[in-house]
Amino acid sequence: MKIWAHRGCSQRYPENTITSFSKALELFGRGLTGIELDIQLTKDKELVVIHDEKIDRTTDGYGFVRDYTLEELKSFHIHTGKREAERIPTMKEVLDLLADAMKKGFLLNIELKNSIFPYPGMEEKIVKLISEYGLEKSVVYSSFYAASIVRIKELVPDAGTGMLDKKVSDCLYKAKSIGADALHPFWQGMDFEPDKFKGYPVRAWLTGHLYPEKPTGGKLDLAALEEKGITDVFLNEPEMYL
Ligand code: G3P
Ligand code: CA
Repeated sequence: MKIWAHRGCSQRYPENTITSFSKALELFGRGLTGIELDIQLTKDKELVVIHDEKIDRTTDGYGFVRDYTLEELKSFHIHTGKREAERIPTMKEVLDLLADAMKKGFLLNIELKNSIFPYPGMEEKIVKLISEYGLEKSVVYSSFYAASIVRIKELVPDAGTGMLDKKVSDCLYKAKSIGADALHPFWQGMDFEPDKFKGYPVRAWLTGHLYPEKPTGGKLDLAALEEKGITDVFLNEPEMYL
């Protein structure tokens, strides 16, 4: 089973931050496959790494990411529980942190968060940035929005892509129709037997606890997930499994 850090090490540290990604990077040597993160576009069309369309849950601000310029967004503080707050990272800042490891095999799954707001032009921006860093081979793009995967494939035909959905059956039918390379279902959405989706990487996501909730100490039975045909898992607490 391949293990990814979901929004970085997001159980013990604030999700989608330089801290949560740095902690995940430390696990590369212990066998961590890569990091999953979420991107959105600011009002002035900068790529930023944040899960929600709104900044309310993770920062001391409120409102939509798309209504703020990057400079304005950077004035908000991410709740860290420490005196020194963090800021919403740009995609570029995250690549500056990860590029060296990515050239040595560490992977990055970039989820385009565009099923609520389509963010026209986001696909062009992210593939251009990845190409500037020369990291094309180390990235998997994913989205719940199939049209976005199609756009990525138009721009970079051999880009690694993953089709997100709740059920593996829906991932499979959409992936087949648009030519996505991998299935990214909810871990409890394995409604097909593995022989139906043989050959596809199946990277499952979960809805685990996130910082600042207390770590639970409970562990998943990864062997049982593997039997269902899951090849990879995105975990908030990957450090527990490596
Ligand atoms: O990419 C897998 C997973 O992250 C999708 O759900 O809500 O955590 O972005 P979410
Ligand atoms: Ca995600």
